[in-house]
Amino acid sequence: MAKIVVFAQQKGGAGKTTLLVQTAVAMAARGCTLALVDLDPQRSLTRWAEIRNDPEIPVDAAADWQAGAALRKAARAAGHVLVDCPGNADILLRAAVRQADLVVIPCQPSPMDAWATGATLEMCAREKTRAVIVLNRVPPRGGAMEETLRMLAESGADISPAALGARVAYSTAFLQGRAASEVSPRSRAAQEVGALAEDLMSRL
Ligand SMILES: Nc1ncnc2c1ncn2[C@@H]1O[C@H](COP(=O)(O)OP(=O)(O)O)[C@@H](O)[C@H]1O
Ligand SMILES: [Mg+2]
Repeated sequence: MAKIVVFAQQKGGAGKTTLLVQTAVAMAARGCTLALVDLDPQRSLTRWAEIRNDPEIPVDAAADWQAGAALRKAARAAGHVLVDCPGNADILLRAAVRQADLVVIPCQPSPMDAWATGATLEMCAREKTRAVIVLNRVPPRGGAMEETLRMLAESGADISPAALGARVAYSTAFLQGRAASEVSPRSRAAQEVGALAEDLMSRL
């Protein structure tokens, strides 16, 4: 059975699409067969895939009413299905979360992200789907990190030990249809994404 991983977070700009493409490339490099599904009408994942033009990492864009069928089709085609979701789309998000084996919730170090994460976690709990929080855009030190971690810990949430730093490499690679690990294989970005991919794979 294919494993379905849904990248969800009700707050926009948290890093869903960024984490998804970085993880996809790292998982493919570790031998996973992938099918990606873009449920976000903004279609940033689809644009990335068009620039990339890589048959190993196919992306299917689906309208909300086609989401269920798109997920089932992807699950027949690959061992791992990674699903990109829009920010505010309660019904669609709920349907994707229900079909998922794991929900990845990116969270930046800010109280706003921690609050939005709480709402996404509640949805996962209602749908009985496992969820893991991945801290994203973590500054080199301090900032709102401590406060965010305290808020997340109170919710009893599962936080991945693999976090991503704030690095321009992620956005520059994205615009080239690539991942940071491909642009600079020895970078910190490549290391931390590798650790994230391995953590997620170990949870599936
Ligand atoms: N770790 C990071 N370091 C630097 N920029 C990031 C990082 N994560 C995301 N970004 C940038 O933040 C913006 C929003 O990220 P995106 O992945 O599109 O969020 P979402 O899909 O949740 O709306 C993008 O411009 C992206 O390049
Ligand atoms: Mg996005």
